[in-house]
Amino acid sequence: MSAPLTIALTKGRILKETLPLLAEAGIAPLEDISSSRKLIFETTQADVRLVVLRGSDVPTYVRHGAADIGVSGKDMLLEYNGADLYEPLDLGIARCRLMTAGLKNKPLPRARIRVATKFVNVAKQHFAARGVQADIIKLYGAMELAPLMDLADLIVDIVDTGNTLRANGMEPLELIADISSRLVVNKAAMKCKYARVQSIVDKLQSAVAKRGN
Ligand code: PRP
Repeated sequence: MSAPLTIALTKGRILKETLPLLAEAGIAPLEDISSSRKLIFETTQADVRLVVLRGSDVPTYVRHGAADIGVSGKDMLLEYNGADLYEPLDLGIARCRLMTAGLKNKPLPRARIRVATKFVNVAKQHFAARGVQADIIKLYGAMELAPLMDLADLIVDIVDTGNTLRANGMEPLELIADISSRLVVNKAAMKCKYARVQSIVDKLQSAVAKRGN
């Protein structure tokens, strides 16, 4: 049998929305991912396996060829600078917005602003492009706490329903990018495993098209 084809999936909400698409493409894990502590899963296709990762690690696995294909939020790709990866398909799932946000009715300081985020590169580019002097503070979660505790003036974060911002007295300000999950492919795999990779891309494309969004 040929070398297995490895697909890196992002755990959490993206995983839940990815599995039905993969199933339509004829790829289903042989056991329930959500109730397992395993990280590698065999599938209904003997030569295809799934690995389940943190979203921020998916581009790294695919970039280095440890996975051939990945499903990654566009936010992670922007932060990673996914230029080294092929991005053949917008899966149209896990849609949300990457935004700046601040405390309601609180004016920004005139001098340098402090920005808390896990999207350090995206935030740097965003403020640099506007000529705004910003000190970026890296956080790993609960970004909304930073302005409340006066650690930062603004945050750069994902906004979905807006409930988290509202619950913390904050408001969305500027849209940085519309986000959805993308299929990414390792460049070497696209050449060496072309037929198998392209067949999966095509099937997923049909599954996405059928949903019409
Ligand atoms: C994300 C994001 C916000 C929240 C936005 O966090 O960081 O906190 O969702 O969603 P909403 O607009 O619907 O309230 P998530 O729960 O994914 O956890 P994370 O902090 O680990 O990213």
